[in-house]
Amino acid sequence: MYTRKNQRDLTGGEKRKFVDALLKLKRSGRYDEFVEVHMKYYVADGEEGLRVGHMTPTFFPWHRQFLLDFERALQSVSPGVTVPYWNWTVDTSPTGSLWAKDFLGGTGRDGDRQVMTGPFAYESGDWPVSVSVTRSRFLTRDLGRRGSLPSRRELNWAMDDPVYDVAPWNSLPGEGFRNKVEGWAGGRRGDWRNHNRVHQWVGGLMNGASSPNDPVFWLHHSFMDRLWTQWQRKHPKAHFYLPRRPLRRDDPQYGRVLSADEPMPPFGKRPSELITQNVYRYA
Ligand code: CU
Ligand code: CU
Repeated sequence: MYTRKNQRDLTGGEKRKFVDALLKLKRSGRYDEFVEVHMKYYVADGEEGLRVGHMTPTFFPWHRQFLLDFERALQSVSPGVTVPYWNWTVDTSPTGSLWAKDFLGGTGRDGDRQVMTGPFAYESGDWPVSVSVTRSRFLTRDLGRRGSLPSRRELNWAMDDPVYDVAPWNSLPGEGFRNKVEGWAGGRRGDWRNHNRVHQWVGGLMNGASSPNDPVFWLHHSFMDRLWTQWQRKHPKAHFYLPRRPLRRDDPQYGRVLSADEPMPPFGKRPSELITQNVYRYA
C-alpha cells in the first residue's frame, strides 16, 4: 500500500522526483502512448460506439485503471513515485506553488498560450507535444482566464447525491453523483461544472481528448479518484457502481454503456473489480 499525497504537501525532493519520472517516461515514448489511449477512447454522446471514458458511468473506474497503469509506468522508471492530487477547491491561485518553476510551470503567454516556465516549457526541449487533437507542438495553458474553479459548495452538491448514476447514463442526467462530478449536469449546455470546469480553467491542451499532454491531468484525476472513494464512504448503502446489469437490447443506450460486470477496453477489467482497491491510499 502506497500513499498519494496532496500536491501542496510535497517536499522539493518529492516534486523533483515526480517531475523527473514524467520526463523519463516522455523520453522513452511511453508517456505519449497514454495520451493516445485517452484519445482513442474519447467518445462523446453524439458519436457512435461504446462510451467508456467520458459521458458514461465508467468515467470513474476507467480513469482509476488508467491512472493505475500510468502510475505503474512511472514507478518502473522511478521506484516509489506516486501521483499526487490537486484539490482545486483549496488551491485556486493560477500562481500557486503547483504552477511554480520547480513543479508544473505556469500559464501560457499571450497570443499562442505557450507555457514558458518550468520543466514542461517547449524551450526546455524535454516536452515536445507529438500526439494531439490540435496542431500545437508545445504545451499550452490559459490558467483562470475563462471562468473560475468549482467551489466546495458546487462539489458538495455532487458528493451529496446518494445515487451513483441514472439513465440515460450519458451527459444528460441532471441527477446522479457521476454526471454531477464529471460536470455535464445542472444547467445549460456548455455550463460546465466540477471535473469539466477544471479542464476548462486550465485551458490550452487540457481541453479535449489529448488533455493528458498536460501533466496536471494526472493530479486532477487523482483528486477525482479520491472523490469516488470519499463518496462511497459518505453513502455506504449506495450501489457504488450502476448500472448493475447489462442494458436490454431495446434500450437506446444498448452497446454504448457498460454495466458492473462487463470488461472495459482496453484494460479488460470490470467496473466491479475497481470499485475498491487496496493498492494505494490518499493522505
Ligand atoms: Cu479523461
Ligand atoms: Cu478529465
